[in-house]
Amino acid sequence: MDIRYIEKDRIFVIETDNTSYVMGIVDEEGFLGHFYYGDKIGSEDSSYLLSIIDPQYTPSSNNRDRSSFLDRFPFEYPGSNVGDYRNTGVEITDANGNGSISLCYESHNIYKGKKELEGLPATFGNENDSMTLEISLVDKVVGLRAVLSYSVFEGIDAIARSVRFENISSEALFLNKAMSMMLDMEDEAYQLLTLHGSWARERMMEIRNIGYGDTFVESFRGESSHQFHPFMALVQDGDSQDNGKVYGFSFVYSGNFQAGVCKSQFDSLRLYMGICEKNFCWKLDSGDVFTAPEVIMNYSSAGLGKMTHTFHDLFRNHLIRSPYKDKERPVLINNWEATYFDFDSEKLIAIARQAQKSGIEMLVMDDGWFGERNDDNTSLGDWYVNENKIKGGLKKLVDEVNAIGLKFGIWMEPEMISPASKLYKAHPDWAISVPGREACRSRNQFVLDITREEVFEYVYGRIKDILSSANIEYLKWDMNRQLSDLGSAALGKDRQGELSHRYMLAVYALQDRLIKDFPNLLLENCSGGGARYDAGMLYYSPQIWCSDDTDAIERLKIQEGTSLVFPLSTMGAHVSDCPNHTVGRITPFKTRGDVALSGTFGYELDITKIPAEDRAAIPGQIANYHKYNELVRKGDYYRLASYRQNHEYDAWMITQKDGRKALITYVQVVAFPNGKRRIIKPKALDDSRIYEIWQDDNYAGAAKGTTLKNAGIAVPILNGDYRSMLIYLVAKE
Ligand code: DGJ
Repeated sequence: MDIRYIEKDRIFVIETDNTSYVMGIVDEEGFLGHFYYGDKIGSEDSSYLLSIIDPQYTPSSNNRDRSSFLDRFPFEYPGSNVGDYRNTGVEITDANGNGSISLCYESHNIYKGKKELEGLPATFGNENDSMTLEISLVDKVVGLRAVLSYSVFEGIDAIARSVRFENISSEALFLNKAMSMMLDMEDEAYQLLTLHGSWARERMMEIRNIGYGDTFVESFRGESSHQFHPFMALVQDGDSQDNGKVYGFSFVYSGNFQAGVCKSQFDSLRLYMGICEKNFCWKLDSGDVFTAPEVIMNYSSAGLGKMTHTFHDLFRNHLIRSPYKDKERPVLINNWEATYFDFDSEKLIAIARQAQKSGIEMLVMDDGWFGERNDDNTSLGDWYVNENKIKGGLKKLVDEVNAIGLKFGIWMEPEMISPASKLYKAHPDWAISVPGREACRSRNQFVLDITREEVFEYVYGRIKDILSSANIEYLKWDMNRQLSDLGSAALGKDRQGELSHRYMLAVYALQDRLIKDFPNLLLENCSGGGARYDAGMLYYSPQIWCSDDTDAIERLKIQEGTSLVFPLSTMGAHVSDCPNHTVGRITPFKTRGDVALSGTFGYELDITKIPAEDRAAIPGQIANYHKYNELVRKGDYYRLASYRQNHEYDAWMITQKDGRKALITYVQVVAFPNGKRRIIKPKALDDSRIYEIWQDDNYAGAAKGTTLKNAGIAVPILNGDYRSMLIYLVAKE
């Protein structure tokens, strides 16, 4: 890891162990150009890199046709309306109503460590393990400064970058667009990989060709969303795990975003990622500062596998703050799919008693315990225990559950308000809405305007009271609708375009306060399944509910897309009942357990009602959880085969960092007759070590790492569809 400024060439070089990122200041104006990002090249050739600027295009030498420079130059952070007709990084309206902006070099600063981004989630590092470069660019006509920030981390091939804007003029101006990352590069036959989805189908992988013009994904739903995910990658070799260059980008933000690529008339690419410009306009009064959230840039010369390892290591070591990130989480049982709204304390206690006998460690009471909530039409905002259901109150229930030997967790959806609630009766204006227009309902609820101080304080007060009223050790923070009808009574008409981002800042502020007041609370974020599963939320919670689709086979694709970017330790995954409530599929209990084992692991079923043989299998599954969880949390994840691709089977592997242990999860989705052999090839084993092979706890021989990697393991043909096997490899000494 290193960051250098080479004065004689006016070049910045940012290095990680295996990558270089080079920018340079050119011409009299001080345009900041982007010259290289990829495999490490050192800095001896920096003037060679600059020589790609043909003098005929240099504006100072060619004042007749500056646009041939401006429309072609690889700008590190392009402005707008000044002769570059590609996609813009920043757009403004200044005090005169004009919108031209061109940002040029002013100064820079290189230091050890990394600063926090005020009010925003961001990667962190200290003086020993990280370094930062800040480059100030300025447009003196407008009076706007943009400080580009780049940080690198010891041993990790990623760069974290963000932009801070400062209005240094004497008048107000408006930011109409403020991307966090712009990256100009040549097209070397790349395709664009993105993650799309819907409720119960989150983070499906899609690869498409990059045509001329813009190809992008976005959300302006007020959350990162089920539909698109704030991630993209340029890939050279499709979804190959091992081959081809990959440039991966993840946005450390949970609200509206846009991520895409613009292919120019000259075949160059301009990549961008940042807050979606739709529904965004931020007023900067004189002296005001606006910080655009962080983007992680991740280059791999060896396919998607290396990109994934980089994201996982970065997020585990430099993003997740929770004390739980390095700990085994309690095995929980959640009553949502067990009871939905139809429960009371007796039912919960019965579940808790049976759960305790099976080795489960925590009971989580989901939606329906407050106000008059017996269905999803009412009571959000009325965070007072419904004593008709929870007889004797929350503390009594929690004490009883604790006495049984289980911890207790609770569900809340703090950002919402039901029209049928006491809160709405008292404060109808607290819901986000546009005056004079009936706001759109979704799941029969509105969104609270938590950007208003009194609303923020009310919401936080209710969470704090509930959590303080009993020994509650876990909170599932849910959000079940997207934002619409954007209007806030607290904002002037010149600031309504700030609402979506202010909303996210308020969510972050609520969760920040929460984890500071309750440092031992295990927080799990959730949004109608996995609509807010993003790097932003990981700054606050070590785990996120992955999807409401708990079917083991559906989960194969959902968990494949999720784990492409996020560590398995963050992935909320439960064993649920069959037929599955979302797709009606019947899968073996073992397969459900084996698939959930690669996530946080827990149960979501009525343990008092499931078949006796399933109940009897739970202690064994929990023993597997205790045996393998450290590997799952800390190991390197490798994708070995993809059901998404082959429509027949799935396999992934987690290898201990020192290569001495590995767990392969194999799922035979469809059985086939008169079986041909199916070979799974493990990765990242130590060539010379001998490994014992255990198939579902049965000894199946031993072989050298190099043999296993090259010849593979022939998996037994399992009898039936949806069967799974855990293959454990342990080095002999
Ligand atoms: C959506 C979540 O994803 C579910 O797990 C459950 O908590 C429901 N909301 C409750 O309304």
